[in-house]
Amino acid sequence: MGNPKPKVPLSIITITISVLAFLALLYTERISSTSFSSSSIFRFKPCAKRNAAKKYVKDKRDLNVSALDYAADDRFEFDPEECSLVNGKWVFNSSIKPLYTDMTCPYLDRQVSCVKNGKMDLDYQKWEWMPDDCILPRFDPIKALQKIQGKRVMFVGDSLQRGQWQSFVCLVESFIPLEQKSMKRGRIHNVFKAKEYNATIEFYWAPFLVESNSDLHIIADPKKRILKVDSVAKHAKHWIGVDILVFNTYVWWMSGLKIKSLWGSFANGEEGYEELDAPVSYTLGLKTWANWVDSNINPNKTRVFFTTMSPTHQRSADWGNEKGIKCFNETKPIIKKRHWGTGSDKRIMSVVTKVVARMKVPVTLLNITQLSEYRIDAHSSIYTELGGKLLTDEQKEDPLHYADCIHWCLPGVPDTWNRIFYAHLLYL
Ligand SMILES: *[C@@H]1O[C@H](CO)[C@@H](O)[C@H](O)[C@H]1NC(C)=O
Ligand SMILES: *[C@@H]1O[C@H](CO)[C@@H](O)[C@H](O)[C@H]1NC(C)=O
Ligand SMILES: *[C@@H]1O[C@H](CO)[C@@H](O)[C@H](O)[C@H]1NC(C)=O
Ligand SMILES: *[C@@H]1O[C@H](CO)[C@@H](O)[C@H](O)[C@H]1NC(C)=O
Ligand SMILES: *[C@@H]1O[C@H](CO)[C@@H](O)[C@H](O)[C@H]1NC(C)=O
Ligand SMILES: *[C@@H]1O[C@H](CO)[C@@H](O)[C@H](O)[C@H]1NC(C)=O
Repeated sequence: MGNPKPKVPLSIITITISVLAFLALLYTERISSTSFSSSSIFRFKPCAKRNAAKKYVKDKRDLNVSALDYAADDRFEFDPEECSLVNGKWVFNSSIKPLYTDMTCPYLDRQVSCVKNGKMDLDYQKWEWMPDDCILPRFDPIKALQKIQGKRVMFVGDSLQRGQWQSFVCLVESFIPLEQKSMKRGRIHNVFKAKEYNATIEFYWAPFLVESNSDLHIIADPKKRILKVDSVAKHAKHWIGVDILVFNTYVWWMSGLKIKSLWGSFANGEEGYEELDAPVSYTLGLKTWANWVDSNINPNKTRVFFTTMSPTHQRSADWGNEKGIKCFNETKPIIKKRHWGTGSDKRIMSVVTKVVARMKVPVTLLNITQLSEYRIDAHSSIYTELGGKLLTDEQKEDPLHYADCIHWCLPGVPDTWNRIFYAHLLYL
């Protein structure tokens, strides 16, 4: 036996990576005040639940007849009851053209406007998600607008949810004349209005869903953040009366540190927190959210969606590129089936599965984790901003510190999340 090399325990590596990831997230979060995300739906639920969902649709008689024909005409067409969108592959098609660009859509944050920010390689836009089990309908902006006619749609969550919101707005906005649309942006609440459809597409910033001391004014140091894992009402009162709610929360829990969690009321105020492992704290927080939904949402009036984890790609060894620097310079999706990296925490996924399964109000999961896991080529990387300014050339040359492998370029992967969301909207 030779001298074993001193080994750094893996857990330390993991923690360092996650803290780095988190810091990267932070500076991007600090600039823009709100966020958003979305994804696809996963409908393989226990039978009882599936039947319940079916019944709900029938009772409501809200299946558009043409949508029904659409489903009946072609057995292989997407059907939320029967088709999992989780398994599939990305197929390259050079003739694909996104419905918008970061030049044509006026509502995109600079953080995600990669081409405007200097990205030359557009191949990342030409991959299409092909589920194994069915055909995913193409996003039809007019149909999407018709489906949300007279409705309020609200995306709630973090900056990834903000990306999904901006993607959805950009996918439809060019089909609305200038005088028929408006955008009101705020720190917390953003509202895009499509006047002729009497519809709004909104984003509400709540990165943990539950309350924290870092919601309105973001606290850069994760150690100083305290989460009120049993409180959601302050945010949730803004969700009342919305017709279609799309939630997410994930990456903010992943600082790699224990989460300072507070519940009940303590005479000593914020000092009464306990430090919990992320999955434990996440469970408490998500249950608080679930209880609120179950007690305040009338499922006959409001549809609830939940976008699963958006994977981060901070560790190129995950996909066998030992010499790589995070997702920097990656130009192709991962081909290996079921690739799953360290940026998607299975423990968090199973919390979501368990909590949602016990809810009274049916929640449609947009399960985008696996399909996004493959897309190491589609993050903002160095084509992003910092402190409201484009990365400088020196910063671009230091991808280890400056490449953003959490957020996604737009147009890009979140458009696919919305294609899945849209497929479900067709069944509303
Ligand atoms: C059903 O969908 C079609 C086209 O998708 C649309 O023209 C029609 O207005 C819809 N009907 C209802 C009742 O929503
Ligand atoms: C490639 O994309 C074009 C335009 O969206 C589409 O018409 C065509 O069917 C696609 N080809 C394949 C093989 O999917
Ligand atoms: C517009 O939509 C809102 C709900 O978002 C509804 O209360 C209102 O009655 C609608 N107005 C018209 C003219 O359809
Ligand atoms: C939803 O609608 C069903 C059938 O119309 C009705 O039985 C049920 O009480 C309604 N639920 C709520 C919460 O209003
Ligand atoms: C990134 O890719 C470009 C173009 O392929 C190449 O010239 C450059 O050396 C790569 N940079 C690194 C650090 O691998
Ligand atoms: C989402 O899909 C993955 C497979 O890619 C699965 O392991 C996971 O349980 C699903 N998540 C939920 C919340 O259903």
